[in-house]
Amino acid sequence: MKPSIFITRKIPEIAVQMLREQCEVEMWDKEDIPVPVEILREKVKTVDGLYCMLSDSINKEMMEEAQNLKVISNLAVGYNNIDIQAASEKGIMVTNTPGVLNEATADLTFSLLMATARRIPEASDFVRNGEWKSWSPMLLTGQDVFGATIGIIGMGRIGEAVARRAKGFNMNILYHNRSRKEQAEKELGATYVSLEELLAKSDFVVLLAPFTEETKNLIAKKELEQMKETSILINVARGGMVNESDLYDALVQKKIWAAGLDVFEQEPVPLDHPLLTLPNVVVLPHIGSASIKTRITMSEVAASNMLQALNGQVPSDLVNTNILTR
Ligand code: DGY
Repeated sequence: MKPSIFITRKIPEIAVQMLREQCEVEMWDKEDIPVPVEILREKVKTVDGLYCMLSDSINKEMMEEAQNLKVISNLAVGYNNIDIQAASEKGIMVTNTPGVLNEATADLTFSLLMATARRIPEASDFVRNGEWKSWSPMLLTGQDVFGATIGIIGMGRIGEAVARRAKGFNMNILYHNRSRKEQAEKELGATYVSLEELLAKSDFVVLLAPFTEETKNLIAKKELEQMKETSILINVARGGMVNESDLYDALVQKKIWAAGLDVFEQEPVPLDHPLLTLPNVVVLPHIGSASIKTRITMSEVAASNMLQALNGQVPSDLVNTNILTR
């Protein structure tokens, strides 16, 4: 009998085909509505493999009810939506999609950085709303990117890809990370600094670290106060790393200049969220890796991890490697 799989969202057909060749596949294929949690829970009870999204919360209770679940393949590099400890305790493999999204995510990070620095969405609305009356010397002036100082918090593979772009813009590159990255220092001229120094010296503070207990609320009132008044905060990691109400206060009180946010504590961000009222906040709907090619590749990688696990192999992108020694 073929193993059974539940896919929680419509994914590229090529990945569905890969899975159908070896498995019984069921897919929640309503593009705009996530699978209701009750349905997800029911499916998790019986399937062998769960192919899920970062927007699906896979918690301990759900896993405890799972009778056959061997693998959870997450279509993302981040996996904070899954209770990894609970998965390991149940012997369930968890996989992610690292590597293949580095460049697309770095492109988006840089786009957001530049859009925020040069007020692109605000300027575009200005034209469309008929407010453009004449050329004016100080009209919609922004911050320089070329030659500025960028502070990257989380110098992993995406951080390095952002740093390579920053190098092309002749930026001074500072970084803060759990461990030193000597290769990045040599190749990219990046300088390791403490978090305090990074916040105090950077024109752009870019969050790219994984979301963990340690990085939860990493940027709150105290950290925002350490930043320059002309600085810009860019978050493309996870919303929970920034205290949004402190960020709102800092922006209103002009403690920092602007923010570019691809991620929020609650997604989708509620329409009445105070941050959405500020013109100096550029917002995106969590599209870091959303290029056509990258999303297709990610879906294939997630399918391949799933198949490896179901075929008794160690998946290439196993997250909870500790289960191998159990
Ligand atoms: C990830 O993969 O974790 C990103 O947030 C999605 O692009």
